[in-house]
Parts: sequence; structure tokens; C-alpha cells
Amino acid sequence: AKNMKDEDKFYRYDGVLYSSVMSPVENLEGLKSMQARPEDIVLVAYPKCGFTWVVGVMRKVMAASVGTKETSDILPLIEFHSPDVQKTVSQLPSPRFLGTHLHPDTIPASFMVKKTKMLVVFRNPKDTVVSYFHFMNKNPVLSKVTWDNFFSNFMSGDVAWGSYFDHAVAWDKLIDDPNVKIITYEELKEDLSEGIRQISKFFGLTITEEQVQAIADKSTFTAMSENSKNTHGKFGSVFFRKGEVGDWKNHFTEAQSRQMDEEFTRRLAGTRLGAKLKY
Ligand code: A3P
Repeated sequence: AKNMKDEDKFYRYDGVLYSSVMSPVENLEGLKSMQARPEDIVLVAYPKCGFTWVVGVMRKVMAASVGTKETSDILPLIEFHSPDVQKTVSQLPSPRFLGTHLHPDTIPASFMVKKTKMLVVFRNPKDTVVSYFHFMNKNPVLSKVTWDNFFSNFMSGDVAWGSYFDHAVAWDKLIDDPNVKIITYEELKEDLSEGIRQISKFFGLTITEEQVQAIADKSTFTAMSENSKNTHGKFGSVFFRKGEVGDWKNHFTEAQSRQMDEEFTRRLAGTRLGAKLKY
């Protein structure tokens, strides 16, 4: 993949961009027949909304409650699984821990049919695009981008995994589904212990208050980035950058801020998810 040209790094599938390196088309094709289980533990997030953070939390909650190992050789993101890995995953014992950045309409249909519980992590769009911009420039398999260009691609939805706003609008429609729980990056920043309690409860995983506190202490940005050599090897700094709310103020021009506000109003005003995504 080293000598790939920029235009080889992405492809479109049903109109949405994907990374050819991370989730080639055969992965997406294979997922169509993926069999979900009611007891799967599924974490969903649009890119850069806090997926890695909640993966860390979930692994600790599962270790404390059902005794699974805290590390696994298989990355949870199902669209990263080659057809071979998909086969392995189909044979893993329950509860499987799975994740995805896919739009709800693209998530294998079986998850809805089996009423698998899905925890969805969202983040305000301004910090999300800033985080995504830095990720593009730090991740060796992606293309280097300038801020102005990337902002404009993000606004038109021409980024890997598609439009933030399309994802948010679709999840808002599922907000009352008893098998869906939406939690935001901002809520977790405000009260991580409460987030951990809610997440455990949603999945029916029982942990003590002492365990909640211990998990919260190990899941702060500082704690996780200090441990990132163990969890992410040399890619630690790619996934742990700044970990704050409001960094958009250091990147957006006034015009970009206005454009984002207008799009936010156009797509999400009056929605309940929109009300949670304040910035
Ligand atoms: P920033 O780029 O704003 O720092 P994802 O895991 O979905 O790709 O999201 C990455 C974002 O989550 C990055 O945001 C990263 O720093 C932040 N992050 C990772 N671990 C975190 C933690 N424990 N607490 C707060 N933010 C965290």
C-alpha cells in the first residue's frame, strides 16, 4: 500500500467514500451476510467521535463483569475485517465485542433483526471535523489534507464513511429504539463515571461502584494516552491527540463557523440528537 496514489486510497460504495486500505470492497460485501447475535455488544461511532475512548471503557467493563480479556488481536471494527477474519468472528464465543463506523442503513441488517444492543457515540461536528483533519494528516495510510479543503469535503460528506450529518439524522430517528443508546463525547467529558454506569446498565453488565471509579480513573485522556504504547503500539499518538471539547475554536474561521451553524440548523434543528450535540 506504500506507493498508492491518493486517488487509489478511497473508493465509493453506494455513493459513500471508504478507505481502500482499511475497508476494501470485499469486506463490505462480506458484511451483508454477517449474522448478528442478540448478546453481541456493539459500539457505533462516526469517525473521530470518541470510538477508541469507549472501546477502552467497554473492554474494562467487560473484563470487570463477564471476565473477558482486556486485549484482543481482533480489532472491533467489523468493516476492517477481511472475509477470512469475518469467518473467525462468526465463530467467536459470546459475548462478542464489535464496533463500526458504518451508517445505520449500512450496518448488517441482522443486527436490527436480532435486536442487538448498539451503543452509539456522537460528538459535536465542529470538534469532530478538527479531530478528523488531524487524523488524516497523522495516519500514514490516509492522504495529507489542508484544513480548508478537508473542511469543505466534510461539509459535502466527501470523507471516508460519508456525511456526519447523514449519520446524525439517521441515528436521531432511532433515538427511542430500546436497543439503541446514544451517548455523547461531551457527556463523557462532563461525567465519565456516570457515562460508565449508563453504558454498563444499557448492556446489562453489572459492575460495582468501586469498579466504576477504577475504570473512570484508567479511562481519562491522560491515562489512556500514557498507556497507548501497550494498546496501540506506535500508532498511539494517532488516536490520542488532545482529548478536549472546544478545540474547533483554534481552527475554524468565522465563515466556516457560520457555514457549519447553518448546516447544523438545516439538518438537525429541532431534533433530540441535535440538542445533545451543542458546541
Ligand atoms: P481529538 O483529536 O480532538 O483529540 P476516535 O477514537 O473516534 O477516532 O476519536 C478520537 C478522538 O477521541 C480524539 O480527539 C482523541 O484524542 C479523543 N480521545 C481518545 N481517548 C480519549 C479519552 N480517554 N478522553 C477524551 N478524549 C479521548
